[in-house]
Amino acid sequence: MNTELIVVLDVDTREEALDIVAACEGCEYFKIGSQLFTRCGPEIVRLLIDQGKKVMLDLKYHDIPNTVNHAVKAAVDLGVSLITLHAGGGSGMIAAARKATEGSATQLLAVTVLTSMNEETLRSDVGIPESPTETVPRWAKMAIEAGAHGIVCSAQEIELVRAAIGDKALIVTPGIRPQWASKDDQQRIMTPRDASNAGANFIVVGRPILNHENPAEAVKLVKEELN
Ligand code: C5P
Repeated sequence: MNTELIVVLDVDTREEALDIVAACEGCEYFKIGSQLFTRCGPEIVRLLIDQGKKVMLDLKYHDIPNTVNHAVKAAVDLGVSLITLHAGGGSGMIAAARKATEGSATQLLAVTVLTSMNEETLRSDVGIPESPTETVPRWAKMAIEAGAHGIVCSAQEIELVRAAIGDKALIVTPGIRPQWASKDDQQRIMTPRDASNAGANFIVVGRPILNHENPAEAVKLVKEELN
């Protein structure tokens, strides 16, 4: 599987973000999430796109269909390549989001169960009496049928999700930890090599690169695992 790396820009300032981008020479995809976007706004997205980078805007929309439709239109106008929304928002919300991407190259990714959750928290906090291995493929199938172009899930669930959504849709996996990195708050983790072998189209890597004393070296090590 040809798996692409998406580097996470979970930092507070535009300068830190641009330093990471400069250090990650040869990387095409960067993820801007709620931390950096709330600090710096759409300008940071434009700065990266102007440098020829591709942006995954990870704001995980979860709202009524009309609001999500307009938010996705705004993201499409910014020129982002990938946008996330929560599968838990349901098929009406996802269909409204898909409508907003028509005629653009922007692809919509439905986030299933967060990789920081496990069976216990899914049951006790959210009230879903299933394991993630049941909820994730069920939500993935619903989201793709409603119009999502791909799914965000744990690499541990790739096989189940592929069986539920077929070969064409994208699978994007956070919760990636090389053997040399700390687990942090992630629960359902996998190494870059195993995620690639399992069939991830993209892996999303944050703290193993951001917290490494030499981020460029961390990128090199992760990419070696993908080849
Ligand atoms: O630092 P780390 O590699 O854990 O970063 C993972 C990134 O992926 C974070 O920005 C987090 O918001 C995001 N993410 C996740 N689990 C999901 C969806 C997105 O960890 N299910």
